[in-house]
Amino acid sequence: MTTTDTNDVTDEVMCSCSGTTRGMIYDLVMQGKDIDAISRYSGALSGCGGCEWEIGEFVRALTEQMAAEQSKTHQAQID
Ligand code: FES
Repeated sequence: MTTTDTNDVTDEVMCSCSGTTRGMIYDLVMQGKDIDAISRYSGALSGCGGCEWEIGEFVRALTEQMAAEQSKTHQAQID
């Protein structure tokens, strides 16, 4: 399992400075929040910055997954 596995929605802490978990980030991305909003809401990325790459990759992977699913839904509505 990779750190950017979008199916891994757990209580794993991704930002130790703020205690932000993978599940919290997942929920915020599903609400349409971008990385800046996630940082403001959760406090992630606002401390040492050590979580920046991992959270950034996770958010990017989730966003791409959401876009792909929306595209499939849109295509199904056209067909
Ligand atoms: S681990 Fe996220 S800001 Fe320090």
